[in-house]
Amino acid sequence: MNDPAARVRIFDTSLRDGEQSPGCSMTAPQKLRFAHALAELGVDVIEAGFPASSEADMDAVRAIAREVRGATVATLARCHVGDIEACARALEGSVHPRIHVFISTSPLHREHKLGLSREQVLERAVMAVELAKRHVDDVEFSAEDALRTEPDFLAQVCIAAVNAGARTLNIPDTVGYTTPSEIRTLFEFLRASVVESGVPGAKDAVFSAHCHNDLGLAVANSLAAIEGGARQVECTINGIGERAGNCALEELVMALRVRGEYYGAHTRIDTRRLVPTSRLLSRITGMAVQRNKAVVGQNAFAHESGIHQHGMLKHRGTYEIMRPEDVGWAQSQMVMGRHSGRAALSDRLQALGFTLPEAQLNAVFAGFKSLAEKKREVFDADLEALVLGADARAARGHRLARFHVSTGVAQDSLPTASVQLVDADGASVSEAAVGDGPVHALFAALARGTGITLEIDSYQVSSVTTGDDAQGQAQVIARVDGREFTGSGTSTDILEASALAWLDIANRLQRTRAQAADTRAAAIA
Ligand code: KIV
Ligand code: ZN
Repeated sequence: MNDPAARVRIFDTSLRDGEQSPGCSMTAPQKLRFAHALAELGVDVIEAGFPASSEADMDAVRAIAREVRGATVATLARCHVGDIEACARALEGSVHPRIHVFISTSPLHREHKLGLSREQVLERAVMAVELAKRHVDDVEFSAEDALRTEPDFLAQVCIAAVNAGARTLNIPDTVGYTTPSEIRTLFEFLRASVVESGVPGAKDAVFSAHCHNDLGLAVANSLAAIEGGARQVECTINGIGERAGNCALEELVMALRVRGEYYGAHTRIDTRRLVPTSRLLSRITGMAVQRNKAVVGQNAFAHESGIHQHGMLKHRGTYEIMRPEDVGWAQSQMVMGRHSGRAALSDRLQALGFTLPEAQLNAVFAGFKSLAEKKREVFDADLEALVLGADARAARGHRLARFHVSTGVAQDSLPTASVQLVDADGASVSEAAVGDGPVHALFAALARGTGITLEIDSYQVSSVTTGDDAQGQAQVIARVDGREFTGSGTSTDILEASALAWLDIANRLQRTRAQAADTRAAAIA
């Protein structure tokens, strides 16, 4: 089990493949916060972004490369000179930088997406690996849509990439098409082909799996790739990612832990951080985890039926193959109250993965004290909401200074809302509106105050913790400029939480528009 050859490296791509999917966009400070949590979790590689895609991504990667320690920081590039150079700039300051270059290899992509022949794809792959290698020693090469590529050509590309200096060969199932036995056989074939080629570095090349979940097989396929010799798996927390998502990190890691002897493989993940990291991601993105999700779903360890409860009372092993505390459930039940001091708060936040600078800790402590006056018990989920709420308030955009809502069920009552907002430059604006209900009126007043119209797809309020004094978390999903945005807000007052969630989207939208304008201006200049 502890044979180093059987250690599987965990490459987390929540901040790149995950973040590029609808409803999962994050601001640069949120990405940085999450990257720290990934390092605490013990991932080997953090794919921080795709710096050539936007200034915002470049800024986020730069901050992660400078600050986050304990994991390799990878950045993605197409096989284009500009992309690779953007990666090199973004990674300045990183102790363990990696450039990850990719090109499509399948006939479908070669013909319809790239318009390139096999030879041209091969040439570009080699050019990109060699260029990346001039900037960093650690280069990864990915053959996009590998699972629909002719195996002999795929082997040829892999051999050429290793010969050019790639240390890791990633074989993505880009469209989630493969099956476990197929991917296992492919990995066995590719490994044998690369080793037999005898090119320099062939024996040490690390094979990596990157499976999408279109048929619900991403975790099963990644495990089968490990059986076929993969020693790196690319995955995301909560399985977020393009379309149906990527291989879920928490499921893969726990499968290797619970069935370690079967797979003969292990990871260095601190599994007790899985639940806190999963929760942090869903709070940041506003993307909830389904209740019955394996490992991190709320029902993952709930035993409802009498027969199961009876069995559990006699012996936990009857219906439990892993312990909730081993994946971090117990850790998330800690309670604090109004007598808890600043040092206790700081300790608890650190345990939750938040290391805050002095000024931010002071602000969160003030928020904690006022919350503890309203609620008897402050749970970890409340603390997370406080920190992330402070992040959202610190981000540039409109701030809610005050609001008033009146509503009723009498025949002549007209739900009415008034809001006072302060914009990013400190200017104050007040507006009022009526609506079919209090939330409708509030959103209409916010739309007037910001000049932004959101097409709301969904609106939900849930309680952050248990108890009738629990904080409410509002989540709004809206469509603007053809893109989906998710916003969240938390407060003991659910109308305030709703207004904060609406403003969270409006502010994200404004920042996205400003970044797009900057990128256009830079392209013209
Ligand atoms: O799914 C995919 O093919 C990818 C590559 C860019 C690695 O995400
Ligand atoms: Zn992908």
